[in-house]
Amino acid sequence: MKQTLDRSLVLEAVRVTEAAAIAAWHLAGGGDEKAADQVAVDAMRTALNKVAIDGEIVIGEGERDEAPMLFIGEKVGLGGPGIDIALDPLEGTTLTAKFMANALAVMAWAPKGTLLNAPDTYMDKIACGPGLPPGVIDLDKSPAENVLALAHAKNVKPSEITVCVLDRPRHSDIIASLRSVGARLALITDGDVAGVIHTADPATGIDLYIGQGGAPEGVLACAALKCVGGQFQGRLVFRNADEKARATRLGVTDFDRKYDLREIVRGDAIFAATGVTKGALLDGVVVKDGMVHTHSLVMNSYSGTVREVRMKRRV
Ligand code: FBP
Repeated sequence: MKQTLDRSLVLEAVRVTEAAAIAAWHLAGGGDEKAADQVAVDAMRTALNKVAIDGEIVIGEGERDEAPMLFIGEKVGLGGPGIDIALDPLEGTTLTAKFMANALAVMAWAPKGTLLNAPDTYMDKIACGPGLPPGVIDLDKSPAENVLALAHAKNVKPSEITVCVLDRPRHSDIIASLRSVGARLALITDGDVAGVIHTADPATGIDLYIGQGGAPEGVLACAALKCVGGQFQGRLVFRNADEKARATRLGVTDFDRKYDLREIVRGDAIFAATGVTKGALLDGVVVKDGMVHTHSLVMNSYSGTVREVRMKRRV
């Protein structure tokens, strides 16, 4: 099986996230999360069906019985190389509905059979950027221990480590542990794909990401980190028997398994994201003087290339 992707697909991938971001932006600030998500889904599906790939959605909008489009197992594309697709046409539905920062359209492509088929459950996640000793972070250590290990590896004080955490009541123990060693916390209301990617971008000032968010978002963020060389671990979190049954249907046998980045994204990956609303990672969609402008990131793990793409065209 070919484990790399043709590099010409890089531009095709970014066209897909651009289409979803533009569609969602039209409903940004409208207060209707579902409607914004739906137009992004429609636009992403239409764009995917124009690409010469034999694509299968492995991380999508949900299982077939609950998602009319871009459901897990749905085939997309005009035919071509076999590709696993992970997508979130609108990452940050609430952010978009309230016109808040950091909403993205995101997608990852990988050779067929190489992406973890994660169920739509939660995942405990930890991530840091590139250039650090392998194993410096570990989900089995406490948040405080991880800060101390990272501070040691970076030769800084624990108080100089900034940790991004989703601001949720379920994270109160994590937050207390981080504060006990004096780490600085960047609390976000939503959008942990961006939160994880921030660890790989020194401009954001984020050193570490810790917390529980969506498992699909975990796979997407992992694909991005694979391209830039960061570290990631995740463990699925099940709240009930139904979630375990979903996981079993997707082939998960060990419910307690700690997955490393290389087990989540087993081959190469292309990751694309387009900003819907302006954020630390990307500018949002802008419509001005009859032109629509977008700002995207597209990365290829094979070459380690990261491109920023600015697109403009007539509305
Ligand atoms: P949506 O775009 O589906 O609303 O997800 C936003 C998000 O913040 C993700 O980034 C994150 O993984 C997840 O929700 C966290 O879930 P919860 O809001 O239930 O804590």
